[in-house]
Amino acid sequence: MIQLSLIGIGTGNPDHVTLAGVRALQAADRILLPRKGEAKSDLVDLRRLLCRNLLDEAAQSRVVEFDLPRRDGRDDYLGAVDDWHAAIAEVWREQMARHLPRGGRVAMLIWGDPSLYDSSLRIAGRLKGSGRDGDASLEVSVVPGITSLQVLTAEHRIPLNALAEPVQITTGRRLRERGWPEDAASVAVMLDGGGAFQALAPEGLHIWWGAYLGMDKQCLIDGRLAEVGPSIVERRAALRERHGWIMDVYLLARTPLLSRTPPLA
Ligand SMILES: C[S@@+](CC[C@H](N)C(=O)[O-])C[C@H]1O[C@@H](n2cnc3c(N)ncnc32)[C@H](O)[C@@H]1O
Repeated sequence: MIQLSLIGIGTGNPDHVTLAGVRALQAADRILLPRKGEAKSDLVDLRRLLCRNLLDEAAQSRVVEFDLPRRDGRDDYLGAVDDWHAAIAEVWREQMARHLPRGGRVAMLIWGDPSLYDSSLRIAGRLKGSGRDGDASLEVSVVPGITSLQVLTAEHRIPLNALAEPVQITTGRRLRERGWPEDAASVAVMLDGGGAFQALAPEGLHIWWGAYLGMDKQCLIDGRLAEVGPSIVERRAALRERHGWIMDVYLLARTPLLSRTPPLA
């Protein structure tokens, strides 16, 4: 029996890992640490740092690094993601069979929280459902982590929703393709390749933007979209150039989120 624990580790600040997360890592027979290619080696370094800072030596010796397959960049996005997840599931299976042939507890460090725009649970579901090599004896548990959205709202000191209003969480791709989601008073945008908000008419919108949240190089900008939108695009490009990669997330709102926020034009 493999007991797989998906552990949310927050988005770069080791202080954001919960006690439950540390306990689960400490208790694991193997901690699988995925490497995601050169451009994002900062993120692997952060995971290594986190293991070094939070775990005792015995637990650190149980960390195993492995390379994740890459997603191909073909136009059929969902098809490419499906193939990619199948390839990742296969790599997980190999790693577990190699390092824990008789079963045991496996921990995986998941960026932010496993429930938010993360496919670890779907990939684990593939292992469970495949019915090969005793996969039926896979048990999955989740340790929640602090999401990038929570760090964004905390750093800007704003609530996620306007009073009694709904929020929609979406992707840059969808915002660009579909525009402002009907019935949303505020919209959180993740996985944006860059400035999808430019597809919206900026009048009456406020933005709270954050990049590298929780890390030393964290960068925050907020204001009326019409005023700060162009500087966010510029700053994003410059930061990406400097660090070789970027992760950013933002909240857009039509309605004031705080009573002291000036009414939106
Ligand atoms: C694959 S999703 C993972 C989200 C993660 N599970 C979470 O709970 O935040 C990656 C997206 O999350 C956001 N993100 C994750 N970490 C971030 C960070 N440190 N700063 C800004 N945005 C971040 C970005 O929108 C990025 O494109």
